[in-house]
Amino acid sequence: MTLQQYKTDSVLRQHLDRIQHQSMRELFTSDATRFDQFSVQGPEIFLDYSKNRIDRGILNSLIDLADEAGLSHAIEQMFAGQAINTTEDRPALHVALRNSVGNDVVVNEVEVTREVNRVQQQMFAFAEEIHRGKQLGYSGQPIDTLVSIGIGGSYLGPLLVNRALAPFRIAGLETHFVANIDPTDLTRVLDRIDPETTLFLVQSKSFRTQETLENANAAKQWLLNQGAKESDISKHFAAVSANVPAAVAFGISAERVFPMWDWVGGRYSLWSAIGLPILFQFGREVFEALLLGAHKMDRHFQTTHFDQNLPVLLALIGIWYHNYFGASTHAVLPYEQYLEHLPAYLQQLDMESNGKSVSRNGSAIQYQTGPVIWGGIGCNGQHAYHQLLHQGSQMVPVDFIVSLTSHHNIANHHTHLFANCLAQSQALMNGKSREEAYQELIGGGMTDQHAASLAPHKVIAGNKPSNTLVLDKLCPQSLGSLIALYEHKVFVQGIIWNINSFDQWGVELGKTLEQGIYQNLGTESVPQQSGLDSSTEGLIKKYWQSIRN
Ligand code: F6P
Repeated sequence: MTLQQYKTDSVLRQHLDRIQHQSMRELFTSDATRFDQFSVQGPEIFLDYSKNRIDRGILNSLIDLADEAGLSHAIEQMFAGQAINTTEDRPALHVALRNSVGNDVVVNEVEVTREVNRVQQQMFAFAEEIHRGKQLGYSGQPIDTLVSIGIGGSYLGPLLVNRALAPFRIAGLETHFVANIDPTDLTRVLDRIDPETTLFLVQSKSFRTQETLENANAAKQWLLNQGAKESDISKHFAAVSANVPAAVAFGISAERVFPMWDWVGGRYSLWSAIGLPILFQFGREVFEALLLGAHKMDRHFQTTHFDQNLPVLLALIGIWYHNYFGASTHAVLPYEQYLEHLPAYLQQLDMESNGKSVSRNGSAIQYQTGPVIWGGIGCNGQHAYHQLLHQGSQMVPVDFIVSLTSHHNIANHHTHLFANCLAQSQALMNGKSREEAYQELIGGGMTDQHAASLAPHKVIAGNKPSNTLVLDKLCPQSLGSLIALYEHKVFVQGIIWNINSFDQWGVELGKTLEQGIYQNLGTESVPQQSGLDSSTEGLIKKYWQSIRN
């Protein structure tokens, strides 16, 4: 499915015809400087993109594609606060949340930098009070536990950071996350916390999300059942929302509602007051270092030539595989245990942004857009799904992420981890030919007949591409830079695919249908002319039978 609206598309298709007959092994053997040519040091992150099916000509044409798509102007528009989220007539100004230097962007008559700083001061003051034991619960005990109630972007970002920066946590404080309407999620947290010392933080940009409001109400009822009085509720609740009136109407005192803005998308919001769980658990210094890391990547993205620009390189290489090689998924494999939640975070960031099939002007798109993002930590994946990566029938481009140093020192563990990461990318690239497999089996003493029959099953096609992103060490700044890198990668791909990466109309239908089905589940019988399909109707009846037996 080609990007036929671009002149560069036909040039890239000619490159494709050529490069398809060249192996990466050959590209390396024919150019001793390949690693130096196709790797670059960005802020906090070193990118090795040499194990890709590209050469200088292809990279130049991919950059031509970005130029033809007007990427430079689009970057300027985003940073200038233009309403690039066209269907909602809003800017996408998450970059302003981490721009302590500030700019003169004004949105809805509000000076953005001044407003961001005001809310940050409100956040810092609140966290400071908690850290100094001044925020007391209904029995006079200091608050030492925060339960963040939120879902999607109001959950995945704070959760990712909470787990990734565990070595930097403030001792004596606990953070828990509740997202799902599945009663298990809230139950497993309520079973572990002390009502007298817990603050519930209701995180919801819209303050209309069913899962979040149901959980917040259940938490409120739990607190009352534990002995708190109605008048105590305000001591144990705070909120983050762009819908302050709704949060106050829920019963949260206005001074404990931290505002966010409609020009911050949910999946781009961890840098806003949605990041309060980060500030609570790690303190102001860590939170500001996280923002600084992201800001460094913002400046890199804004000012670096595309052929040295990490987000642009990742984006263009991804488009090369999705739109020219036909890959439909993309794997993110952190060889860093603390980044275990990164793939899930990137699923929302990428798939909710670019899972679109209508162009910015409303016409149906005839080419592939956002890939399926998946992944998991190494080395665990090597013992689970790497088989498909090596011998499966489809090409899965991979981002490996690895740190040069670990936070922990046990025997030679980290060296083995690092070696495994490099071995996987090397194996994906070099593979193993049938002859190599046959000779290996013969060399191991196998009979010619057995070796000949087994060899085809041991062939690894190779020529499978990967990027390797290397952090010095996982810390607040490198984490901030890494997350911003992927935010901007998603933005670049959205511009080239000519889609709006900042709305998410696709999630509304399911929410609407749930309301009707929920009503049906609560009634005594499905109305004869329910109009429901027989599957939905049959399953509703099955549910009834289960709760009536
Ligand atoms: O339904 C999708 C979504 O709107 C996401 O974009 C968002 O991050 C999540 O739900 C939670 O929304 P809110 O923060 O408004 O509760």
